[in-house]
Amino acid sequence: MSDQNADPNTGQIDNVLHEERLFPPSADFSQQANIASMSDYQTLYDAAKNDPDKFWADIANQEMHWFKPFDRVVEQNGKDVHWFAGGQTNMSFNCLDAHIAAGNGDRAAIIWEGEPGDQRTLSYAQLHAEVCKFANVLKKLDIGVGDVVSIYMPMTPELAIAMLACTRIGAIHSVIFAGFSAEAIADRNNDASAKLQITSDGLFRRGKTLPLKETVDAALEKSRSVENCIVLKRAQNDCPMTDRRDHWWHELMDGASPDCPATPLDSEATSFILYTSGSTGKPKGIRHTTAGYNIWAKKTFQWVFDWKPEDVYWCTADCGWITGHSYIVYGPMANGATCLMYEGAPNHPAPDRFWDIVERHKVTILYTAPTAIRAFVKWGDQHIEKHDLSSLRLLGTVGEGINPETWIWYHEKIGGGNCPIVDTWWQTETGGIMMSPLPGATSTKPGSCTKPLPGVVPVIVDESLTPVGPNQGGMLCIAKPWPGMLRGIWGDDQRFTEQYWSTYPGNYLTGDNARIDNDGYYWIMGRIDDVINVSGHRLSTIEVESAMVSHPNVAECAAVGRPHELKGQAIAVFVSIKDTEASDQLRDELKLHVRKEIGALAVPDDIRFTEALPKTRSGKIMRRLLRDIAAGREAAGDVSTLEDFSVLAKISADDES
Ligand code: WT7
Repeated sequence: MSDQNADPNTGQIDNVLHEERLFPPSADFSQQANIASMSDYQTLYDAAKNDPDKFWADIANQEMHWFKPFDRVVEQNGKDVHWFAGGQTNMSFNCLDAHIAAGNGDRAAIIWEGEPGDQRTLSYAQLHAEVCKFANVLKKLDIGVGDVVSIYMPMTPELAIAMLACTRIGAIHSVIFAGFSAEAIADRNNDASAKLQITSDGLFRRGKTLPLKETVDAALEKSRSVENCIVLKRAQNDCPMTDRRDHWWHELMDGASPDCPATPLDSEATSFILYTSGSTGKPKGIRHTTAGYNIWAKKTFQWVFDWKPEDVYWCTADCGWITGHSYIVYGPMANGATCLMYEGAPNHPAPDRFWDIVERHKVTILYTAPTAIRAFVKWGDQHIEKHDLSSLRLLGTVGEGINPETWIWYHEKIGGGNCPIVDTWWQTETGGIMMSPLPGATSTKPGSCTKPLPGVVPVIVDESLTPVGPNQGGMLCIAKPWPGMLRGIWGDDQRFTEQYWSTYPGNYLTGDNARIDNDGYYWIMGRIDDVINVSGHRLSTIEVESAMVSHPNVAECAAVGRPHELKGQAIAVFVSIKDTEASDQLRDELKLHVRKEIGALAVPDDIRFTEALPKTRSGKIMRRLLRDIAAGREAAGDVSTLEDFSVLAKISADDES
């Protein structure tokens, strides 16, 4: 039951979930860790907070190459923030040339595995040569500083090469996840005035070939600004080529020179834009810059993943998302890490593909998303038990809250009970991880992203902008600038101001709710818009969902509010079950289970069984659409980011009981 009878008028959120389990890092892990104790963490945290100028200047000077030194560290005027002004650097240089200069050119940069099983390894020296050649190709097509390049490609090394070639010459990449429609590509291309398109003939997905180029052709009919299109041969399928506009990647690369010095770029030069809608609204082009972003990606990678040169690090995200930008390309590569990159689906040819990859490549660090973990739970432990996962030493998660029971499963089944889990909270907008355990220092609590990283100063406020006390949920804001923060929304300054800087002036509004527990640990409580208000009690979706997921027959679920005459809102839960059949008896059992776990207040009024939940293409549950269905409305609003349209129709058709 809710132990905080928060005043319903302040907009605080009741905390009903109680998680008592604590997992301290093992002595073995701590001994070898980059940051080995909480006192080391605290020293760093305090240094960053008390003297950010010195803290970041030292890091920037040690870890980055400067063509021209910066003369100021950080300046803020409301939403206008500048880091390392006056300086010039280059991300592609920091990710490639720097390692060759340090004698690490032979180290593997990318170990790539295609879905059909083909494999390639590129050393830093080889990657550097490819990037330089492709940068010269871009220049030949008249791409230079400030031009926007739209990238719509499968997860091949060439995707990373294209990104690094852009940043090498100051072109701005806009990577669009290769599952989006022609319409979505055209919208993004037009919004960004993209000058060049890069794509491939096709894409392998679950053994089938998807025709990417046809989709791009449809998009380019409507993308007025795009002059040329480069096409990588990947799937060897026939694809239409338009004379003069379309060029084969391999033909352009054929005579290209591997000599292309990196262009010195202003610290605040735009490095890339990345379109995100979160799970609401029209996509917006989040704008990141050069020096601050690069440092943030690099440092957070070291801190959070306890990275060592021997590690084989695998982030399962796609480069179409910020996770792929910051933790496949720019963060790991700025450090000279060896990154595994996988092209395909987790269940092709069989549901054990990931574990097969981990075993064969002796992956040491695995970073994935709750949506994937929930799928593994549903597919069954037998696929995991077939493989030796003992090379793993650290696990990470990102993208949504992870329900405590899912966390425990991840810890036991994948981590064999002895890998720390870093639950990393951040956003496309933040550029890199903001809150996370440091695996050698922090005792973890399942479901909590624990503490802010050095340089991150969070504040949680209620609707009257008063900071809330322990265990009272409120809006999560960031009070001080950090190097990796977004600098704007492409072409829409007004939306940038309104969305992030107006609610609590001077502070960045994350759009998430959170609470701090008695130990100073942070718990993300979901999006502000998703709060359910039952009889004046504001409940967070994740708490209701976590209670449901702790029932052995629940694989995943989503809780939303629907209008209710007396209570304001009633709780509707959409549940996907495992190892059993849907029945009224199970429905009653689940209600009883929630009552026992968190109290009468949170017992769902409606429980609907469904095979699948509507998700964004990055795997996040779209509660906004479920709210419409629960209220008996047609699911409205922007659905362009929805992964599988048939899911909505199926759920709407299911009889409500
Ligand atoms: C939103 C940002 C961060 C890269 C991928 C997603 C949710 C993300 C967590 C976490 C609870 C999380 C938040 C956030 N989120 N990580 N560890 N615990 N919630 O980037 O698409 O910009 O989404 O994802 O709601 O605001 P994104």
